[in-house]
Amino acid sequence: MVCAIYPGSFDPVTNGHLDIIDRASKVFDHLIVAVLENPRKIPTFSMEEKVQMLNKIVSKYNNVEVDSYKGLLIDYAKQRGARIIIKGLRAISDFEFEFQMALTNRQLNCEVETMFMMTNNMYSFISSGIVKEIAGYGGEIKALVPPQVYDMIIAKFKAKPGQT
Ligand code: PNS
Repeated sequence: MVCAIYPGSFDPVTNGHLDIIDRASKVFDHLIVAVLENPRKIPTFSMEEKVQMLNKIVSKYNNVEVDSYKGLLIDYAKQRGARIIIKGLRAISDFEFEFQMALTNRQLNCEVETMFMMTNNMYSFISSGIVKEIAGYGGEIKALVPPQVYDMIIAKFKAKPGQT
């Protein structure tokens, strides 16, 4: 059984993330969508809110689970017995940092392989940051996020207008 981890900050989950989840779920026997902390980003949603949103969108897949972890991705992979990390690549701009992370993770544990999936070109412009910027100014995000999480995102920005 091949188990893969799709890690991210998912702050919030977008249609781009969902596209990767959908495609990876068809390739691997088991997919763990793992919410981790990105120390370079200040989160808008709590870990619990992100897990809740992801659970809403993965409920239709019987080989996908959602989890969260505070610590190094490579430690989490070892804990879960997963040897594959899946990452989505949107553009050349993603590449440099993803390359650095993949090589660092390999240095930490050479038994865990990072594999990249190219984004669907329909979603290559979407990022959580763009979603938050639009929602923060009261703009329409319906085309950017899964319908199951739309209300939660809008509610967050109604509670904290102007926040991105
Ligand atoms: O969605 P993001 O913000 O691009 O995801 C980045 C994430 C959360 C996968 C990355 O920051 C991460 O792996 N965080 C856990 C801490 C860790 O392992 N850092 C070392 C990576 S080289």
